Amino acid sequence: MGDSKDPKELLAADRSGTFECSTMPKLEPCAIVIFGATGDLTSRKLFPALYKLYASEDMPDGFVIMGVGRTEYGDDAFRDKMREALEEFAPNFDHDLWHKLASRLYYHTLEYDELDGYKSLEKRLQEIDKSEKANGETQGNRLFYLAVPPELYTTIANHLGDAGLAAPGQESGWPRIVVEKPFGHDLPSARELDAALHRSFSESQIFRIDHYLAKETVQNILMLRFANAIFEPLWNRNYIDYVSIIAAESLGVGHRAGYYDTAGVLRDMFQNHMMQLLALSAMSPPSSFHADRVRDEKTRVYRSLRPFDVEREFKDLVLGQYMSGTVHGEKVPAYRKEKNVPEDSNTPTFAMLRAYLDNWRWQGVPFYITSGKRLADKVSRIVVQFKEIPHSMLRGVVEQSIEQNKLFLGIYPDEVIHMYFMAKQPAPLLCLSPVYMHYGFKESGIGPELEAYEKVLLDCIMGDQMLFWRQDGVELTWGFLTPILEMCDDCGTMERHLHRYKAGSWGPNEACELHPGFFADVTTSTS
Ligand code: BG6
Repeated sequence: MGDSKDPKELLAADRSGTFECSTMPKLEPCAIVIFGATGDLTSRKLFPALYKLYASEDMPDGFVIMGVGRTEYGDDAFRDKMREALEEFAPNFDHDLWHKLASRLYYHTLEYDELDGYKSLEKRLQEIDKSEKANGETQGNRLFYLAVPPELYTTIANHLGDAGLAAPGQESGWPRIVVEKPFGHDLPSARELDAALHRSFSESQIFRIDHYLAKETVQNILMLRFANAIFEPLWNRNYIDYVSIIAAESLGVGHRAGYYDTAGVLRDMFQNHMMQLLALSAMSPPSSFHADRVRDEKTRVYRSLRPFDVEREFKDLVLGQYMSGTVHGEKVPAYRKEKNVPEDSNTPTFAMLRAYLDNWRWQGVPFYITSGKRLADKVSRIVVQFKEIPHSMLRGVVEQSIEQNKLFLGIYPDEVIHMYFMAKQPAPLLCLSPVYMHYGFKESGIGPELEAYEKVLLDCIMGDQMLFWRQDGVELTWGFLTPILEMCDDCGTMERHLHRYKAGSWGPNEACELHPGFFADVTTSTS
């Protein structure tokens, strides 16, 4: 995949782009055009992220932000709305800084399905470009961020193309388009969406966001594995017993029930974030740290996924739905009692899947992938359990069992690398206990910390696709999950297969039957 180039150029491109870790490359100026600018995502995430980047002087010298939406606003009314959003969602809001940022902010009203609105958007962007000398020109570079419901992606992408906003200009700069998950609802719809995006944009212009990839610890998985000599030789079926990938949440569906009830946990979390964590845990070392080489290796992982055996039905899968209960001391309703959820909904809010990779490295090693809502706490981590020692010299000397080594890659709440190993306790008699080696990213105090959306926006401006999905990965993961989704839709007995769990618990008991180590994996302290 990717754009076709001369092989020599391609090799050079793979190796270029190194820079001192302490200096950011100079960013090209651009206009950030946010569709859905009056929506929740813009107020809660995008605008606070842009503000923080501006405050830390990480934005390009020349930039403007153009909000686009159906709601009629003038520039000033939109600025007021964004100020309110920042007052609520941006820590350390500074009024002086805001005034400077506000002067770079514009709003354009359009109907998403009317071409004229896009043509006048193009005109406005050009005018702003000419008049924006004070803030530096944007040189025709445009980042179109689609913070709109996915049903609108196709319409907007097509109209951007038809209005001439998608084609890179001869002299004027680059257009890029950014879309959030879900990338389709299943394999055919994912392909349709891709075809629609490709009608006007090439692959190198398309940025498919997965905010998990921008998390510090998630980015660090590759560094841990491939910038150290000590892990990789052990990272295979000879030494690893299992890998457990967990994204447990204490929140329920909140105000997103309308979407969530059609998605469920498999579409909402598995097709994207969980599959990325799987790929990062299991992939082989890429030849270089280049977006396409890294994504090639991830694709190989997806190709190795053993097709889910629907004949075995629920032997490798546990699905659950939360009942009422108490989370963090607060009583919460059952999923079926949430606003906008049908009383007879069979949508799973919890899933544990045992997956296998059919390749030389991982044959026979189970990957337990677990995610659920309204669990006891929010915990995201990858746990690598190493095999038992082959022979204990301490047999008959100490009574305790020798615990297997465990490596925790903590994503939330602790951003840590935490490794358990056995050691002798300092005492006259021989007594062993598990102790740990620990590295906390936050405790290290190194470097500025970027929130996921800040990182994602910066990478889009830089044109670095490393942390974004490539379409082949999207299709392969949908391909893997589709039989599971179909089995769930078709089995007609979901009621029987959907295990109820109490909100505030760690999910249905059946999950601990499928993976007896789950409770320890999710609850072991890594602080
Ligand atoms: C989103 C899902 O992609 O990720 C949500 O749609 C989920 O349902 C969220 O709550 C979890 O993200 P994070 O960063 O809070 O772990």
